[in-house]
Amino acid sequence: MYCPHYLVDKNHPLPPAYYPADLVLCSIPFRADMYDLKRCICAIANKPLEIMHLAALEDGIKLYGISAFRPYHRQQEIYNNSLLQKGREHTEKYIAYPGYSEHQTGLAIDLSCSDIDFELTEEFADTKEGMWLHKYAYQFGFILSYPKNNNKGYAYEPWHIRYACNNAKFYV
Ligand code: DAL
Ligand code: ZN
Repeated sequence: MYCPHYLVDKNHPLPPAYYPADLVLCSIPFRADMYDLKRCICAIANKPLEIMHLAALEDGIKLYGISAFRPYHRQQEIYNNSLLQKGREHTEKYIAYPGYSEHQTGLAIDLSCSDIDFELTEEFADTKEGMWLHKYAYQFGFILSYPKNNNKGYAYEPWHIRYACNNAKFYV
């Protein structure tokens, strides 16, 4: 069955009701409640993610899922909480506006590791897991969406990768 996949950026959002049609539970270890939607990812990305995770393990690298799919309303909660707690400048750099997050596409996932207590911070880039991911993710079809000094309008996020689905397009 054909299942469309979408890209987003600061100019191309998804509708609030958009849910990917092929969500499955991620096949890698996750730091989240068993029934949390953040454990889901598009099926098309799950197999490569599983293969990447196993290849990493063979190199002694233990990657953990922290957050993958996020529906619009969850992104809205995160955005609003960040505005209250961290202010507008921080929020616009680190949190996509609802409808504009790659997490809503179902193709993105945040990864971390035990050395930094499973946090999503820049320190991840200096862990052996972060360095491995930076070096090899592309071999499994994943890209680092927000590298250092990116021109996408976001801060450096060494923990956030997206499956580079070759038929993904903007929604509008
Ligand atoms: N942290 C990324 C930009 C997001 O909220 O989708
Ligand atoms: Zn992310």
